[in-house]
Amino acid sequence: MKKKLIAGNWKMNGSLASNEVLLHAVLDGMAQRPPACDVAVAAPAPYLAQVQALTAGSPLAVAAQDVSAHEAGAYTGEVSAAMLKEFSVRYVLVGHSERRQYHHETDALVAIKAQRALAAGITPIVCLGETMQEREAGLTEAVVKRQLAAVIHLNGHCISEIVVAYEPVWAIGTGLTATPEQAQEVHAVLRSQLAAATEHAGRIRLLYGGSMNAANAAALLAQPDIDGGLIGGASLKAPDFLQIIASAK
Ligand code: G3H
Repeated sequence: MKKKLIAGNWKMNGSLASNEVLLHAVLDGMAQRPPACDVAVAAPAPYLAQVQALTAGSPLAVAAQDVSAHEAGAYTGEVSAAMLKEFSVRYVLVGHSERRQYHHETDALVAIKAQRALAAGITPIVCLGETMQEREAGLTEAVVKRQLAAVIHLNGHCISEIVVAYEPVWAIGTGLTATPEQAQEVHAVLRSQLAAATEHAGRIRLLYGGSMNAANAAALLAQPDIDGGLIGGASLKAPDFLQIIASAK
């Protein structure tokens, strides 16, 4: 059976001092109670070296929050997949709703980013999800299928190497969580879409994200097609993050 994946996304939070405290607490907790799942933290780019150094030799994987769609060259401010690889980055988020919303990232761009990550040997965590307006208009399924289709189309047979994170936009940072049934319903749609593209759909991990916390994680993670979580706010608090990790069996 595939292991679940719990990935923390620090977003634009932290400092050298606070990261060190947080990482030590998470690593201590993981040493005391070895997780049954895979665990990663997605740090802001300037802190990747710090996370790499502090987690070396531990079961905590380094993740990044974004990657350039370009390989190299005159793209000021961008960070390439090859650069991330030098900092032992194992996973990279692509298409987070905050990137789609504030940086106007399109489905096509997200698909290229996933391709860049795969080519560098980094697992892309492809984020997708509907807004509240789209849900209320009955468009949830159409939106997530469109978002995933772009990535499937461009990445062909490599699709079995990705991770997908379903994050309803209305649930991100709002304290509103999708119910386990609502999340499972969308995950089942994504799973069958992946099954049409690859015979390995069963081993692709589908994460849920959106106000997942220590109290609601177990119920979400008990759903048959929820293979882990992408955790924002709660990943900044070691006891909460550790509780979520412990819920992922
Ligand atoms: O990447 C993480 C998600 O955006 C969820 O964030 O747990 O703070 O709602 P949140």
